[in-house]
Amino acid sequence: MELSLDRLTKHYGSKIAVDCVSAVFQPGVYGLLGANGAGKTTLLRMLCAILEATSGEVFLDGKEVTSMGAAYRDTLGYLPQDFGYYPGYTAMEFLLYISALKGIPNNIARKRAKELLEVVGLENVAGRKIKTFSGGMKQRVGIAQALLNNPGILILDEPTAGLDPKERVRFRNLLSDYAGDKIVILSTHIVSDIEAIADKVLLMKKGKFVLQGTVSELIRKVDGKVWELEVSPEEAREWQAKATVANLRHEGKQIVLRIISDSMPAKKAVLCEAALEDLYLYYFPTEEGVQ
Ligand SMILES: Nc1ncnc2c1ncn2[C@@H]1O[C@H](COP(=O)(O)OP(=O)(O)O)[C@@H](O)[C@H]1O
Ligand SMILES: [Mg+2]
Repeated sequence: MELSLDRLTKHYGSKIAVDCVSAVFQPGVYGLLGANGAGKTTLLRMLCAILEATSGEVFLDGKEVTSMGAAYRDTLGYLPQDFGYYPGYTAMEFLLYISALKGIPNNIARKRAKELLEVVGLENVAGRKIKTFSGGMKQRVGIAQALLNNPGILILDEPTAGLDPKERVRFRNLLSDYAGDKIVILSTHIVSDIEAIADKVLLMKKGKFVLQGTVSELIRKVDGKVWELEVSPEEAREWQAKATVANLRHEGKQIVLRIISDSMPAKKAVLCEAALEDLYLYYFPTEEGVQ
Protein backbone atom coordinates (compact mmCIF):
# COMPACT_ATOMS: atom_id res chain seq x y z
CA MET A 1 0.00 0.00 0.00
CA GLU A 2 1.28 3.43 -0.91
CA LEU A 3 -0.29 6.81 -0.28
CA SER A 4 1.28 9.74 -2.05
CA LEU A 5 0.78 13.48 -2.21
CA ASP A 6 1.69 15.35 -5.31
CA ARG A 7 2.17 19.11 -4.95
CA LEU A 8 -0.83 19.36 -2.64
CA THR A 9 -1.84 22.98 -2.02
CA LYS A 10 -4.60 24.79 -0.13
CA HIS A 11 -5.36 28.50 -0.25
CA TYR A 12 -7.91 30.14 2.07
CA GLY A 13 -8.43 33.39 0.21
CA SER A 14 -4.98 34.94 0.05
CA LYS A 15 -3.69 32.73 2.89
CA ILE A 16 -1.61 29.74 1.76
CA ALA A 17 -2.21 27.09 4.43
CA VAL A 18 -0.53 24.19 2.60
CA ASP A 19 2.06 25.05 0.02
CA CYS A 20 2.83 22.49 -2.68
CA VAL A 21 3.77 19.52 -0.51
CA SER A 22 4.77 16.15 -1.89
CA ALA A 23 5.45 12.95 0.04
CA VAL A 24 5.13 9.18 -0.17
CA PHE A 25 3.74 7.13 2.73
CA GLN A 26 4.22 3.38 3.05
CA PRO A 27 3.18 1.18 6.00
CA GLY A 28 4.56 2.61 9.24
CA VAL A 29 3.93 5.43 11.68
CA TYR A 30 4.52 8.95 10.40
CA GLY A 31 4.61 11.99 12.63
CA LEU A 32 3.65 15.36 11.26
CA LEU A 33 5.34 17.85 13.56
CA GLY A 34 4.76 21.58 13.43
CA ALA A 35 3.80 24.61 15.47
CA ASN A 36 0.17 25.79 15.64
CA GLY A 37 -0.83 27.22 12.28
CA ALA A 38 1.78 25.23 10.32
CA GLY A 39 -0.95 23.64 8.18
CA LYS A 40 -1.19 20.17 9.73
CA THR A 41 -4.98 20.01 10.07
CA THR A 42 -5.54 21.41 6.58
CA LEU A 43 -3.16 18.82 5.12
CA LEU A 44 -4.76 15.90 7.00
CA ARG A 45 -8.27 16.96 5.93
CA MET A 46 -7.15 16.98 2.28
CA LEU A 47 -5.55 13.56 2.82
CA CYS A 48 -8.95 12.29 4.02
CA ALA A 49 -10.65 13.88 0.98
CA ILE A 50 -12.99 15.92 3.19
CA LEU A 51 -11.38 19.19 2.16
CA GLU A 52 -10.91 19.96 -1.49
CA ALA A 53 -7.37 20.90 -2.49
CA THR A 54 -6.77 24.14 -4.36
CA SER A 55 -4.35 22.19 -6.50
CA GLY A 56 -2.36 18.98 -6.37
CA GLU A 57 -3.53 15.43 -5.78
CA VAL A 58 -3.56 12.49 -3.39
CA PHE A 59 -3.06 8.97 -4.75
CA LEU A 60 -3.65 5.57 -3.18
CA ASP A 61 -1.69 2.91 -5.04
CA GLY A 62 -1.62 5.18 -8.04
CA LYS A 63 -5.35 6.00 -8.05
CA GLU A 64 -6.47 9.57 -7.43
CA VAL A 65 -8.48 9.33 -4.22
CA THR A 66 -11.42 11.69 -4.87
CA SER A 67 -12.28 9.56 -7.91
CA MET A 68 -12.34 6.44 -5.66
CA GLY A 69 -15.24 7.80 -3.54
CA ALA A 70 -16.51 5.34 -0.93
CA ALA A 71 -13.79 2.82 -1.71
CA TYR A 72 -11.25 5.32 -0.40
CA ARG A 73 -13.29 6.31 2.65
CA ASP A 74 -13.68 2.63 3.58
CA THR A 75 -9.90 2.30 3.90
CA LEU A 76 -9.66 5.36 6.16
CA GLY A 77 -9.88 5.91 9.90
CA TYR A 78 -9.82 9.53 10.98
CA LEU A 79 -9.71 11.32 14.30
CA PRO A 80 -10.35 15.02 13.65
CA GLN A 81 -8.69 17.60 15.89
CA ASP A 82 -12.05 19.02 16.98
CA PHE A 83 -13.80 15.71 17.33
CA GLY A 84 -17.49 16.08 18.19
CA TYR A 85 -19.05 13.66 20.68
CA TYR A 86 -22.68 13.13 21.46
CA PRO A 87 -22.54 13.83 25.19
CA GLY A 88 -25.75 11.96 25.99
CA TYR A 89 -24.50 8.73 24.37
CA THR A 90 -22.63 6.10 26.32
CA ALA A 91 -19.22 5.06 24.95
CA MET A 92 -20.74 1.84 23.54
CA GLU A 93 -23.75 3.60 22.00
CA PHE A 94 -21.47 6.14 20.39
CA LEU A 95 -19.25 3.48 18.83
CA LEU A 96 -22.31 1.61 17.53
CA TYR A 97 -23.64 4.84 16.07
CA ILE A 98 -20.36 5.55 14.24
CA SER A 99 -20.28 1.91 13.08
CA ALA A 100 -23.73 2.36 11.56
CA LEU A 101 -22.52 5.49 9.73
CA LYS A 102 -19.62 3.48 8.42
CA GLY A 103 -21.96 0.72 7.25
CA ILE A 104 -20.59 -1.95 9.59
CA PRO A 105 -23.24 -4.65 10.24
CA ASN A 106 -24.64 -4.52 13.79
CA ASN A 107 -23.46 -7.91 15.04
CA ILE A 108 -19.90 -7.25 13.86
CA ALA A 109 -20.03 -3.68 15.17
CA ARG A 110 -20.90 -4.73 18.72
CA LYS A 111 -18.02 -7.21 18.88
CA ARG A 112 -15.57 -4.74 17.38
CA ALA A 113 -16.71 -1.90 19.68
CA LYS A 114 -16.23 -4.14 22.73
CA GLU A 115 -12.74 -5.13 21.59
CA LEU A 116 -11.76 -1.52 20.97
CA LEU A 117 -13.11 -0.30 24.30
CA GLU A 118 -10.77 -2.85 25.85
CA VAL A 119 -7.88 -1.73 23.67
CA VAL A 120 -8.28 1.86 24.85
CA GLY A 121 -8.98 0.82 28.46
CA LEU A 122 -12.60 1.93 28.65
CA GLU A 123 -14.24 -1.50 28.97
CA ASN A 124 -15.39 -0.75 32.53
CA VAL A 125 -17.13 2.49 31.55
CA ALA A 126 -18.67 1.31 28.27
CA GLY A 127 -22.15 2.03 29.64
CA ARG A 128 -21.34 5.47 31.02
CA LYS A 129 -22.35 8.68 29.27
CA ILE A 130 -19.51 10.41 27.43
CA LYS A 131 -20.36 13.72 29.12
CA THR A 132 -19.07 12.27 32.40
CA PHE A 133 -15.67 11.41 30.86
CA SER A 134 -12.39 13.28 31.36
CA GLY A 135 -10.65 14.87 28.35
CA GLY A 136 -8.29 11.90 28.05
CA MET A 137 -11.16 9.40 28.18
CA LYS A 138 -13.03 11.29 25.43
CA GLN A 139 -9.88 11.28 23.35
CA ARG A 140 -9.66 7.50 23.81
CA VAL A 141 -13.25 7.14 22.54
CA GLY A 142 -12.13 9.19 19.52
CA ILE A 143 -9.20 6.87 18.91
CA ALA A 144 -11.49 3.81 19.22
CA GLN A 145 -14.00 5.17 16.68
CA ALA A 146 -11.20 5.79 14.17
CA LEU A 147 -10.27 2.09 14.40
CA LEU A 148 -13.80 0.65 14.01
CA ASN A 149 -13.48 -0.32 10.36
CA ASN A 150 -9.94 -1.67 10.86
CA PRO A 151 -8.61 0.97 8.46
CA GLY A 152 -5.56 0.47 6.28
CA ILE A 153 -4.86 4.18 6.60
CA LEU A 154 -5.24 5.77 10.02
CA ILE A 155 -5.10 9.55 10.29
CA LEU A 156 -5.03 11.16 13.73
CA ASP A 157 -5.00 14.91 14.26
CA GLU A 158 -3.36 15.78 17.60
CA PRO A 159 -4.37 12.42 19.11
CA THR A 160 -2.37 12.83 22.31
CA ALA A 161 -3.98 16.16 23.28
CA GLY A 162 -5.46 15.75 26.75
CA LEU A 163 -3.91 12.35 27.45
CA ASP A 164 -2.11 11.95 30.77
CA PRO A 165 1.35 10.27 30.85
CA LYS A 166 -0.09 6.81 31.47
CA GLU A 167 -2.60 7.21 28.64
CA ARG A 168 0.22 8.39 26.39
CA VAL A 169 2.22 5.21 26.98
CA ARG A 170 -0.86 3.09 26.33
CA PHE A 171 -1.55 5.02 23.13
CA ARG A 172 2.02 4.60 21.93
CA ASN A 173 1.83 0.83 22.46
CA LEU A 174 -1.57 0.67 20.79
CA LEU A 175 -0.23 2.42 17.69
CA SER A 176 2.89 0.32 17.36
CA ASP A 177 0.76 -2.83 17.71
CA TYR A 178 -1.72 -1.53 15.16
CA ALA A 179 0.73 -0.17 12.58
CA GLY A 180 2.20 -3.39 11.11
CA ASP A 181 1.13 -3.32 7.48
CA LYS A 182 -0.88 -0.10 7.83
CA ILE A 183 -0.15 3.55 7.22
CA VAL A 184 -0.56 5.67 10.34
CA ILE A 185 -0.17 9.45 10.08
CA LEU A 186 -0.50 11.59 13.18
CA SER A 187 0.01 15.25 13.80
CA THR A 188 1.29 16.86 16.95
CA HIS A 189 3.16 19.87 18.23
CA ILE A 190 4.55 17.79 21.11
CA VAL A 191 8.09 16.75 20.22
CA SER A 192 8.41 13.98 22.81
CA ASP A 193 5.37 12.19 21.35
CA ILE A 194 6.96 12.04 17.93
CA GLU A 195 10.24 10.83 19.32
CA ALA A 196 8.52 7.93 21.04
CA ILE A 197 5.89 7.00 18.44
CA ALA A 198 6.93 7.81 14.89
CA ASP A 199 9.17 5.85 12.54
CA LYS A 200 9.40 8.84 10.25
CA VAL A 201 8.92 12.53 10.86
CA LEU A 202 7.74 15.28 8.54
CA LEU A 203 8.58 18.67 9.93
CA MET A 204 6.05 21.22 8.74
CA LYS A 205 6.52 24.97 8.78
CA LYS A 206 4.32 27.62 7.14
CA GLY A 207 2.56 25.08 4.92
CA LYS A 208 5.72 23.34 3.72
CA PHE A 209 7.65 20.23 4.65
CA VAL A 210 11.01 21.59 5.72
CA LEU A 211 12.48 18.19 6.60
CA GLN A 212 11.54 14.52 6.23
CA GLY A 213 13.35 11.53 7.70
CA THR A 214 13.68 9.12 10.59
CA VAL A 215 14.07 10.60 14.06
CA SER A 216 17.80 9.79 14.07
CA GLU A 217 18.30 11.26 10.58
CA LEU A 218 16.63 14.45 11.72
CA ILE A 219 18.61 14.67 14.93
CA ARG A 220 21.80 14.41 12.87
CA LYS A 221 20.89 17.77 11.31
CA VAL A 222 21.57 19.50 14.62
CA ASP A 223 24.65 17.47 15.53
CA GLY A 224 27.39 19.93 16.40
CA LYS A 225 24.91 22.74 17.09
CA VAL A 226 23.88 21.96 20.67
CA TRP A 227 26.00 23.41 23.47
CA GLU A 228 26.04 23.59 27.22
CA LEU A 229 27.30 26.72 28.89
CA GLU A 230 27.61 27.43 32.61
CA VAL A 231 26.82 31.04 33.50
CA SER A 232 25.63 33.23 36.36
CA PRO A 233 21.89 33.98 36.72
CA GLU A 234 22.42 37.52 35.28
CA GLU A 235 24.30 36.14 32.28
CA ALA A 236 21.57 33.51 31.83
CA ARG A 237 18.99 36.27 31.32
CA GLU A 238 21.21 37.92 28.68
CA TRP A 239 21.69 34.63 26.86
CA GLN A 240 17.97 33.94 26.78
CA ALA A 241 17.41 37.29 25.11
CA LYS A 242 20.06 36.84 22.44
CA ALA A 243 20.28 33.08 21.73
CA THR A 244 18.06 30.03 21.22
CA VAL A 245 18.06 28.46 24.68
CA ALA A 246 16.45 25.02 24.74
CA ASN A 247 16.44 24.75 28.52
CA LEU A 248 18.39 25.58 31.62
CA ARG A 249 19.20 23.81 34.83
CA HIS A 250 20.43 25.12 38.14
CA GLU A 251 23.73 23.84 39.46
CA GLY A 252 24.42 25.45 42.81
CA LYS A 253 24.45 29.21 42.22
CA GLN A 254 25.26 28.78 38.55
CA ILE A 255 22.97 27.98 35.64
CA VAL A 256 23.74 25.57 32.82
CA LEU A 257 22.16 26.68 29.55
CA ARG A 258 21.44 24.42 26.60
CA ILE A 259 22.04 26.64 23.58
CA ILE A 260 21.27 25.87 19.93
CA SER A 261 23.83 27.60 17.74
CA ASP A 262 25.59 26.93 14.43
CA SER A 263 28.91 27.99 15.94
CA MET A 264 30.40 27.83 19.42
CA PRO A 265 28.42 30.47 21.36
CA ALA A 266 31.16 31.19 23.93
CA LYS A 267 34.64 29.97 24.78
CA LYS A 268 33.54 27.83 27.73
CA ALA A 269 30.69 26.18 25.82
CA VAL A 270 30.78 22.39 25.61
CA LEU A 271 29.27 20.46 22.70
CA CYS A 272 26.59 17.98 23.74
CA GLU A 273 24.39 15.28 22.24
CA ALA A 274 21.47 16.58 20.19
CA ALA A 275 17.83 15.56 20.67
CA LEU A 276 14.73 16.01 18.50
CA GLU A 277 13.57 18.95 20.57
CA ASP A 278 16.80 20.78 19.68
CA LEU A 279 16.01 20.31 16.00
CA TYR A 280 12.52 21.67 16.52
CA LEU A 281 13.92 24.77 18.24
CA TYR A 282 16.49 25.17 15.50
CA TYR A 283 13.67 25.37 12.94
CA PHE A 284 11.12 27.17 15.11
CA PRO A 285 13.28 29.38 17.35
CA THR A 286 10.59 31.95 18.03
CA GLU A 287 7.35 30.09 17.46
CA GLU A 288 5.09 28.73 20.12
CA GLY A 289 4.01 25.17 20.49
CA VAL A 290 7.02 23.54 22.09
CA GLN A 291 6.23 21.33 25.04
N1 LIG B 1 -11.21 27.60 7.24
C1 LIG B 1 -10.18 28.45 7.25
N2 LIG B 1 -10.26 29.68 6.73
C2 LIG B 1 -9.21 30.53 6.71
N3 LIG B 1 -7.99 30.21 7.21
C3 LIG B 1 -7.83 29.00 7.76
C4 LIG B 1 -8.90 28.05 7.81
N4 LIG B 1 -8.44 26.92 8.39
C5 LIG B 1 -7.14 27.16 8.70
N5 LIG B 1 -6.77 28.40 8.32
C6 LIG B 1 -5.42 28.99 8.44
O1 LIG B 1 -4.51 28.14 7.77
C7 LIG B 1 -3.31 27.99 8.52
C8 LIG B 1 -3.07 26.54 8.85
O2 LIG B 1 -4.06 26.12 9.78
P1 LIG B 1 -4.14 24.63 10.29
O3 LIG B 1 -4.15 23.72 9.13
O4 LIG B 1 -5.27 24.54 11.25
O5 LIG B 1 -2.74 24.47 11.06
P2 LIG B 1 -2.29 23.51 12.27
O6 LIG B 1 -3.24 22.35 12.28
O7 LIG B 1 -0.89 23.13 11.96
O8 LIG B 1 -2.38 24.31 13.53
C9 LIG B 1 -3.47 28.88 9.76
O9 LIG B 1 -2.87 30.12 9.48
C10 LIG B 1 -4.97 29.02 9.90
O10 LIG B 1 -5.29 30.24 10.53
MG1 LIG C 1 -4.37 21.57 13.75
